Amino acid sequence: SILIIDFGSQVTQLIARRVREVGVYSEIVPFSKAEEAFASLKPKGVIFSGGPASVTADGSPRAPQAVFESGVPILGICYGQQTLCLQLGGAVEGGHAAEFGRADVEIKAASPLFEGVWEVGGRYPVWMSHGDRVTRLPEGFEVIATSENAPFAIAADESRHYYTTMFHPEVVHTPDGAKLIANFVHNIVGLKSDWTMAAYRAEMIRKIRAQVGDGRVLCALSGGVDSSVAAVLIHEAIGDQLTCVFVDHGLMRLNEAAEVVTMFRDHYNLPLVHVDASERFIGELEGVADPEVKRKIIGRLFIEVFEDEAKKIAADGKGSPQFLAQGTLYPDVIESVSFSGGPSVTIKSHHNVGGLPERMNMQLVEPLRELFKDEVRALGRELGLPEQFIGRHPFPGPGLAIRLPGGVTREKLDILRKADAIYLDEIRKAGLYDTIWQAFAVLLPVQTVGVMGDYRTYEFVCALRAVTSVDGMTADFYPFDMAFLGRVATRIINEVRGINRVTYDVTSKPPGTIEWE
Ligand code: XMP
Repeated sequence: SILIIDFGSQVTQLIARRVREVGVYSEIVPFSKAEEAFASLKPKGVIFSGGPASVTADGSPRAPQAVFESGVPILGICYGQQTLCLQLGGAVEGGHAAEFGRADVEIKAASPLFEGVWEVGGRYPVWMSHGDRVTRLPEGFEVIATSENAPFAIAADESRHYYTTMFHPEVVHTPDGAKLIANFVHNIVGLKSDWTMAAYRAEMIRKIRAQVGDGRVLCALSGGVDSSVAAVLIHEAIGDQLTCVFVDHGLMRLNEAAEVVTMFRDHYNLPLVHVDASERFIGELEGVADPEVKRKIIGRLFIEVFEDEAKKIAADGKGSPQFLAQGTLYPDVIESVSFSGGPSVTIKSHHNVGGLPERMNMQLVEPLRELFKDEVRALGRELGLPEQFIGRHPFPGPGLAIRLPGGVTREKLDILRKADAIYLDEIRKAGLYDTIWQAFAVLLPVQTVGVMGDYRTYEFVCALRAVTSVDGMTADFYPFDMAFLGRVATRIINEVRGINRVTYDVTSKPPGTIEWE
């Protein structure tokens, strides 16, 4: 495997992705825990990430000495280049304004790092980050590439297999960067591509069996990709020691609850308890307009319903479940390196089952903890889940309740479901579903005047939202053409009673969020 030591760069996760894309397992660890992680993982190669600090500052982060002593190959990127050079006896000069941008590197000497990719004498575009710079290389290093502002764009000590770049090979703005990382992993470290989803599946099945023994596992199945993939995998490992609980809160999209139950119970034979708790949820939500209060009510009810179900399951005399399965992903697990410190502000209380394990004294089974979202999708394919299910847009735990500003009623839920289904139908027909990260309708608590035939109407406004995003953290509104929007609006107004006006939301995130509440 490859260990990535994180010095706090915004793009460290991309390094892990690039390594995994070439079929090699990689893990990210914050620099403060790198020594332990290096000792336990025993990686065959190490990558130092970039980072916002200045190596010249007192107390700035360093790589553990053990990494250098072990003799494993190292790739140092940006801050990683600087700390590597400094720690091996080179010199770094600070005081340059930090600056990011495109630059061309000129190749001065051959290197296995860009074998088959770049040629000596050629010039190639990279995404450079200037700030501090190395002014004297450690002994044994030579310059392999330069750029106008970076005399040591690439410097390496080939005999010790240490490679350093002042640019970021992990970002797409360095078009050949992924190939350089592949060369490092395959040619320099010498690792083969054996990190595949087929291998992962087999290994996880073994691990789940070892962890669970003959115990019982509960899984909260939401119908989302993560919990579904986790459930199918766990079922493959332990069969009917697993019970899935699908809590239908009545806030799902059109036909969604039925589809989830049919697919998992009938098609996958998962032991699935379908709890219709819609009365309970909608009853408590009726008339509640404050978004945070809605979210809290839903979170509390979810836990209550789940606890009730766990008790019912234990009533069969085969013991109460000791394990709770969750579809936690790697990005939720990676400890981030924060230099600013300080708690971040809560924008929205996210709905999840986080509070359950302590309350019910259960251990977690999290078979997706090591995976990125696209890897979970690949694992889903490996497990035979249908493509249209794997590519589904994310759907928030609190469901349609947070797409109904002003309060939830059954009637409004029905109107919203119909509008949403038409919108998504048109998006699919236009072939745009996979390009868009998430699209949905919102029903506004506003009535406006319209005219249909010879009648005056006074009905609700529907807002349409569609965004592109990589991780949901930032997003851009999707630039539909007007003909498409016109078609959707006409269909919604004609086919959905209760809506007589449609608007399109052109807010990006930030400053907006993706959901309206
Ligand atoms: P926001 O609205 O914060 O949403 O920009 C970012 C992404 O998270 C989803 N989302 C949730 N997912 N429970 C979830 O599981 C929640 O409570 C929740 N709230 C928002 C949202 O749909 C988007 O993909």
